[in-house]
Amino acid sequence: MIRIAVLGAGRIGRIHAANAAANPRCRLVAVADVLAEAAARLAKSTGCEAASDPAATLARTDVDAVVIGTPTDTHVALLLEAARRGKSVLCEKPVDLDIRKVEEAASEAARLGAKVMVAFNRRFDPGMAAVHRAIGEGAIGTVRQVVISSRDPAPPPLSYIPSSGGIFRDMTIHDFDMARWLLGEEPREISATASTLVDPAIGTAGDFDTLMVTMRTASGRQCHINNCRQAAYGYDQRIEVFGSGGMLLNDNLRPSTLRRYDAHATEIREPLLNFFLERYAEAYRLELDAFLAAIEGGTEMPLTIEDGRRALMLADAALESARSGRVVTV
Ligand SMILES: NC(=O)c1ccc[n+]([C@@H]2O[C@H](COP(=O)([O-])OP(=O)(O)OC[C@H]3O[C@@H](n4cnc5c(N)ncnc54)[C@H](O)[C@@H]3O)[C@@H](O)[C@H]2O)c1
Repeated sequence: MIRIAVLGAGRIGRIHAANAAANPRCRLVAVADVLAEAAARLAKSTGCEAASDPAATLARTDVDAVVIGTPTDTHVALLLEAARRGKSVLCEKPVDLDIRKVEEAASEAARLGAKVMVAFNRRFDPGMAAVHRAIGEGAIGTVRQVVISSRDPAPPPLSYIPSSGGIFRDMTIHDFDMARWLLGEEPREISATASTLVDPAIGTAGDFDTLMVTMRTASGRQCHINNCRQAAYGYDQRIEVFGSGGMLLNDNLRPSTLRRYDAHATEIREPLLNFFLERYAEAYRLELDAFLAAIEGGTEMPLTIEDGRRALMLADAALESARSGRVVTV
């Protein structure tokens, strides 16, 4: 039984703690948050101990693994401290906003022989995983194009924008990881255009809210990503992979398969599952399970700091392209 602690009792920490409490492979020992009240509330609902000092939690000898769900600028220090203490780590994305810090973390973690998984949850979504599996089985021949649409229902609070690292590093980073995974090759050329069409205050804060990216791999495979911080119809998460022998489509999810017909319209369906906590609930469960399975089995982590580094490198390149208007080579 793997003994696990969750650091951070905010939005994502609450998901990870609930999943750890319910997973038969592990026992949730503690949640730690610098806000003692937040830790206490989550500990109570998940039946574990609360702590307000993450360092003390990392020092515990009865903790084998930790999930880092704290703000991005705290990830590297916590990850390396956990690694030095011999714990396995599931670290939220992005590892850091500074690629040099991610590189340093990767080499230090490698030197320590640490087991670190980066939490790109979408790879564990059953629909996305089915797309990846079908590509691997040759269902659509050779991949030619990947099209990713990813739009949020509403922008984050303005106060979040300055610390987010910008839309490319905060939001598109998930899509860069999906692109690498589904293309099966590393993008080499990247071109991006970005605007502020949702809220001028996002632009004043130095960020964009609407963007398009195109990428090309060395063999010529192509990928298009489009993001927007606000979609009137909800959380829009679609993927299309086009190959020499066909196409794969992964559509949005709804609460049920109900379709209503009446005198005014047909095919009326419920709204899309709203935002990531609902849309990717199963993905978060399966992500944690994959992390625990890799510890149990002594196998490689399904995603590593290197995956985090490559996604961040694409985000940096896309931002450079959006600002300069040039195609950027990575
Ligand atoms: N994979 C995903 O789908 C996904 C979704 C949301 C957030 N995230 C990532 O998760 C991280 C946290 O985001 P969030 O939305 O949950 O933030 P949040 O602000 O809701 O929660 C963060 C919590 O961490 C606590 N905290 C701050 N410093 C700490 C420290 N040193 N030790 C322990 N606790 C500390 C805060 O008090 C807060 O309760 C970010 O890196 C974000 O990018 C990932």
